[in-house]
Amino acid sequence: MTATYTDRDSEQKRRRLPRVAVAEYGLRQLARMALYSQTSTSLRRAVGKERKQNRAELKPPPAGLVSRNLRALFREDLHNVAMGYYPMPRDNDGSLLAQVGRIRNFYADLPASNRRRQQEIHDEVLNDENREKRPRYYLQNFHYQTDGWMSDESARIYDIQVESLFGGSANLMRRQSLVPLAKFITGKDQRKLRLLDVACGTGRLIDAACAAFPRLDMQGLDLSEEYLHEARRQVGHRSNVRFLLAKGEALPFAESSLDCVTSTFLFHELPPKIRRAVAREIARVLKPGGIYVHMDSLQLGDISEFDDLLRGFPRFFHEPYHGSYIKEDLADLFSHAGLELRESTPIFISKRSVFEKI
Ligand SMILES: C[S@@+](CC[C@H](N)C(=O)[O-])C[C@H]1O[C@@H](n2cnc3c(N)ncnc32)[C@H](O)[C@@H]1O
Repeated sequence: MTATYTDRDSEQKRRRLPRVAVAEYGLRQLARMALYSQTSTSLRRAVGKERKQNRAELKPPPAGLVSRNLRALFREDLHNVAMGYYPMPRDNDGSLLAQVGRIRNFYADLPASNRRRQQEIHDEVLNDENREKRPRYYLQNFHYQTDGWMSDESARIYDIQVESLFGGSANLMRRQSLVPLAKFITGKDQRKLRLLDVACGTGRLIDAACAAFPRLDMQGLDLSEEYLHEARRQVGHRSNVRFLLAKGEALPFAESSLDCVTSTFLFHELPPKIRRAVAREIARVLKPGGIYVHMDSLQLGDISEFDDLLRGFPRFFHEPYHGSYIKEDLADLFSHAGLELRESTPIFISKRSVFEKI
């Protein structure tokens, strides 16, 4: 199934984008794709042996489907700009020098993460000191990455790793969360609305949201001090943005105090019981009528041709909860917490689901 996007509800609002701007967008995205296809190839090479062993069992998507769906997503990105949901994306990857430094760090770390993959070692951060600070499920080398979520070095190369994993489409997928937010915010005074990004990581969604909604009051929350530090660096000093260290299952906000909550790529990292606790917390802090925008992995059956790709993912990257996540009934999970599903859209290899607090 080739991805299509059904949101054509107010085509008359669509403006024509200047050709130069579209060409510039194309060049910038091409450059990103070229860069991340290199790092992606290195990552694939690192998992090559395991992939070969699994190839007989797991069917890759039909030839051309991935690139067709990716092209559809680029078109959608431009459509969203034309609709005024967000400005022409910049990605804000930092200076060339900084980017080269991060890529060097990424390559320097590859042998170590590969060794963990080969030896199936994923508990290097499980020690008494960390146990006192963080929940047990959190103390793992997710993706087999060095230090798990718990060091400056890990935070520094996280974006390179994720973009490499998704062939340069991670930011592209993330910013599709801005569309339902833009629809919700239109006609309201941004300054009076509050948004929380749960598990904001290195702050990439908040960064994109700053460009789209420059006056919105935003908070990013995460359990990693180091990732929060990186998020602050990414977003820079802005009076309407704050970052805080807390966990999703105990949000430090009053009941019905927020208008919008988002999370990207969090829920597949959580054990089923914790997913439910975080869902309850999101529902608790949202105002009635407020929205929660959930972005995470595609699930089984969303695009059946991708099912084996989803099944294979946790075998190559330490993702202990992904297998149960892709079977999770999201509508049911969040409805138990008091959130009603309003929209569910596959976005390349992710899916965006929008819920309303009832
Ligand atoms: C895969 S990353 C996603 C980060 C970011 N949202 C993005 O779009 O890239 C998962 C993040 O979830 C955070 N995290 C995991 N469990 C958490 C919890 N219970 N509460 C808050 N943050 C959590 C990790 O520290 C990490 O930054």
